[in-house]
Amino acid sequence: MAIKTLEDLLQEGVSGRGVLVRSDLNVPLDEQGAITDPGRIIASVPTLKALSDAGAKVVVTAHLGRPKGGPDPKFSLAPVAAALGEQLGRHVQLAGDVVGTDALARAEGLTDGDVLLLENIRFDTRETSKDDAERGKLAKALVELVGDDGAFVSDGFGVVHRKQASVYDVATLLPHYAGTLVAAEVKVLEQLTSSTDRPYAVVLGGSKVSDKLAVIESLAQRADSLLIGGGMCFTFLAAQGFSVGSSLLEESMVDTCRTLLDTYADVLHLPVDVVVADKFAADATAEVVAADRIPDDRMGLDIGPGTVQRFTTLLSNARTVFWNGPMGVFEFASFAAGTKGVAEAIIAATGKGGFSVVGGGDSAAAVRQLGLPDDGFSHISTGGGASLEYLEGKKLPGLEVLES
Ligand code: 3PG
Repeated sequence: MAIKTLEDLLQEGVSGRGVLVRSDLNVPLDEQGAITDPGRIIASVPTLKALSDAGAKVVVTAHLGRPKGGPDPKFSLAPVAAALGEQLGRHVQLAGDVVGTDALARAEGLTDGDVLLLENIRFDTRETSKDDAERGKLAKALVELVGDDGAFVSDGFGVVHRKQASVYDVATLLPHYAGTLVAAEVKVLEQLTSSTDRPYAVVLGGSKVSDKLAVIESLAQRADSLLIGGGMCFTFLAAQGFSVGSSLLEESMVDTCRTLLDTYADVLHLPVDVVVADKFAADATAEVVAADRIPDDRMGLDIGPGTVQRFTTLLSNARTVFWNGPMGVFEFASFAAGTKGVAEAIIAATGKGGFSVVGGGDSAAAVRQLGLPDDGFSHISTGGGASLEYLEGKKLPGLEVLES
């Protein structure tokens, strides 16, 4: 069955109706609690604005971080409510609780077009419970906020791989629709998996190889080249028999990486040089060494210029590029060149008519933080984990439930 979308809901009519929207407003905050990258808030606006403009009583639910065991002011959605209000151009109320007395009173008081944001859904531990009945109870409480003729719009693409109450269970209780963002993200991923123009290059970075093994295995079978950088490249370099000094290393993954390198020798490409330092710090002295010459007392914090050049060549004729994960510690200026260089190579491929997708929070944040143009890429996804699981061929609960 085809998934119904926001357009279908708007056609059915929402004026005066309660609509529960699951958005992904999980934005990075600095130590003072200020939002450092509002990308996910901006991406959530079209659905919320369309509903509000159409006169719906909009109740938004979202999470921030991974609070443990109940409410924690550090993870309050207060800064997000303010930023969302600015982006929407209208006041966004923040409930003091998730589905408690304040949320209920505010939901009951909504007038047409109003937008209410519930406090961090993960303050209620039932949200992430493995017990279906527990999640079901929270879902029911969420449904009460929008009333019997309410509807559910799933727009938090970054969480559709989570079987959680506000993502999955509510959709089993209310008429459900994919929001603009979810529909757009799925369309792009469908294009990546079904009608891929070749050559197809994949660039993977980030720190943990264990998180990415399944997707490496699956993409290595589909892509023409798969370029590996970031913290996880050191486990692959170790699998090649190189010493990696004090770089990030997942010992238990070395054998698996060796098997991958043997099986997909023609597809996988590793750094030929790396930028090393004596400590993990912004002011550490950077030095470029060959990938097989990392000194014992040094850690690799970025791919080197030779690797950027090699990766640029590999990307230069690509018609399709998927990139997930930074190439180095881009937050420190001395170790940002690898990520910037690869991003520029992808932008150049897009400029020549290629189709490029940046998948995920960290790489999307890197694009903005390094001052690269958003429109240099065909699509910047808001969901790292979700897009990787989709490309891995997994069934995503938050999408599957929309089909029923
Ligand atoms: C993300 O940051 O990828 C999404 O918001 C999902 O968050 P989670 O990994 O904590 O479920």
